[in-house]
Amino acid sequence: MSLGGMALFAILLTMVSLGRAKSSSACEAVGNCTMDVSHIWGQYSPVFSVPSTIDVSVPSGCNVTFAQILSRHGARAPTRKKSDLYRNMIQRIQSSVKDYGKGYEFLKDYDYHLGADDLTPFGEQQMVDSGVVFFQRYQDLASEFDPFVRASGSDRVVVSAQRFVEGYYGAQDRSTSSPVKSILVLPEAEGFNNTLNHGSCPAFEEGPASEIVDAYQKVWLGVFGPAINKRLNSKLPGANLTLTETIYMMDLCPFNTVANVSLAASDFCRLFSMDEWASYDYFQALDKWYGYGKGNPLGPSQGVGFGNELISRLTGTPVDDDTTTNSTLDSSPETFPLNSKLYADFSHDNTMSSIFAALGLFNSTMDLPLKYKVSPRHLHGFSASWAVPFGARMYLEKMQCSDASEELVRVVLNDRVVPLRTCNSDRFGRCKLSGFIDSLKFVRSGGLWNECPYNG
Ligand SMILES: *[C@@H]1O[C@H](CO)[C@@H](O)[C@H](O)[C@H]1NC(C)=O
Ligand SMILES: *[C@@H]1O[C@H](CO)[C@@H](O)[C@H](O)[C@H]1NC(C)=O
Ligand SMILES: *[C@@H]1O[C@H](CO)[C@@H](O)[C@H](O)[C@H]1NC(C)=O
Ligand SMILES: *[C@@H]1O[C@H](CO)[C@@H](O)[C@H](O)[C@H]1NC(C)=O
Ligand SMILES: *[C@@H]1O[C@H](CO)[C@@H](O)[C@H](O)[C@H]1NC(C)=O
Ligand SMILES: *[C@@H]1O[C@H](CO)[C@@H](O)[C@H](O)[C@H]1NC(C)=O
Ligand SMILES: *[C@@H]1O[C@H](CO)[C@@H](O)[C@H](O)[C@H]1NC(C)=O
Repeated sequence: MSLGGMALFAILLTMVSLGRAKSSSACEAVGNCTMDVSHIWGQYSPVFSVPSTIDVSVPSGCNVTFAQILSRHGARAPTRKKSDLYRNMIQRIQSSVKDYGKGYEFLKDYDYHLGADDLTPFGEQQMVDSGVVFFQRYQDLASEFDPFVRASGSDRVVVSAQRFVEGYYGAQDRSTSSPVKSILVLPEAEGFNNTLNHGSCPAFEEGPASEIVDAYQKVWLGVFGPAINKRLNSKLPGANLTLTETIYMMDLCPFNTVANVSLAASDFCRLFSMDEWASYDYFQALDKWYGYGKGNPLGPSQGVGFGNELISRLTGTPVDDDTTTNSTLDSSPETFPLNSKLYADFSHDNTMSSIFAALGLFNSTMDLPLKYKVSPRHLHGFSASWAVPFGARMYLEKMQCSDASEELVRVVLNDRVVPLRTCNSDRFGRCKLSGFIDSLKFVRSGGLWNECPYNG
């Protein structure tokens, strides 16, 4: 057995023994779990500092000469579709359950009012904070350059960019009367080439590639879901919750928590064990990996346009791309300047997952197994909660160092240095600019966009 195999075997053994040790006095049996699980809520985790084995500060003897942030919007309400499903489920529970089990009494009077699609006040604050942190990290550049800011067209993404800009200029002590004006919005309309939102590759949106993720998640849900489902249905007799609704009940923990600026854990969080949250976290990791990342045959292709824009910005040369870039926008210095040193782009978890895949950030991560879970520590740092939580931010920085003639490139994702293995990074996780650009062959060679046509 390989070392990796042995590590996995050990993880599995631990899981089996934990399973056996579980007794009826466990917190989930009485609905009074109180552990902090907010870091294992998949993409619904509020962003946090992910553990980094490499020091995240700029190495001594180096100056940052360029920084690009690619950010997810802050914490939001459920999407419209999900919000309707959650409301219906709660209504069904409340109309069919007479006898609520221990720990579930709160559901009787729970008032569903999460809204839909938009940032929560906490989510707006996350973005203000993010702007402050970005300014502080790159303030030497900030004294000479204003960030060039773009946002994908959803309200929550545009507002995220606005709050970020407010935080940034607030920290710099330069109020902008109208930050809105300085943000370039890329519409999420059909037919508009938008590098910050997928949607223009029919084979990915509607073809067989779009069905993979559901099939894969179903396998894992079939492993960890039934025990939880059985408990919920015995605590809520008459509710007859499905396996999918078991996930919805868990979703209501993060969504109710981020709906309140106090971030006090919602009652829903008390119903599930630490191990169940780890399973949920892995369920969400499968979604990003097989839905939008390297595990999907057309996932990485959705990030190629942004990859080519990044190459252009890093090298100061025109964009060369035939995938999702808009040549009208990218050929104008007004809408795609090449003389800035600070860039800020705002997007979604799904497209960011594709962009990371296009850049090869998790190329050394194995394909996620479907029948048991693996922690992000064993996946080279990949999980939805580590990569694309609410308010997620990737920094791509270029630095000039006294001991190197060529500029170096490094990626910091949610405070974790992601070593650029695809170009043989050094001990600080960095590659030479030319080595990094060389490694982006997939991005520079069309990224399989020729496979996008699809007709039913
Ligand atoms: C949860 O409930 C059990 C059984 O009622 C009790 O023994 C335990 O102390 C409680 N735990 C917490 C954290 O309240
Ligand atoms: C490209 O951008 C221009 C300027 O915003 C817009 O008029 C045009 O519709 C866009 N075309 C595509 C295909 O995105
Ligand atoms: C529970 O739901 C299943 C399918 O969703 C259905 O077949 C079954 O009849 C329902 N049971 C009750 C008691 O409503
Ligand atoms: C937010 O949480 C605080 C502290 O737990 C609570 O007192 C308050 O009622 C909550 N607000 C809303 C709108 O739920
Ligand atoms: C939009 O993208 C398509 C490729 O998907 C490309 O053929 C077209 O020229 C692009 N339009 C613009 C305005 O860049
Ligand atoms: C990542 O792996 C794929 C093959 O799975 C390869 O096509 C691509 O070039 C790699 N990316 C980088 C940056 O090395
Ligand atoms: C970094 O910037 C400082 C101040 O501008 C300068 O003195 C120093 O030479 C620079 N170092 C490198 C490696 O470029």
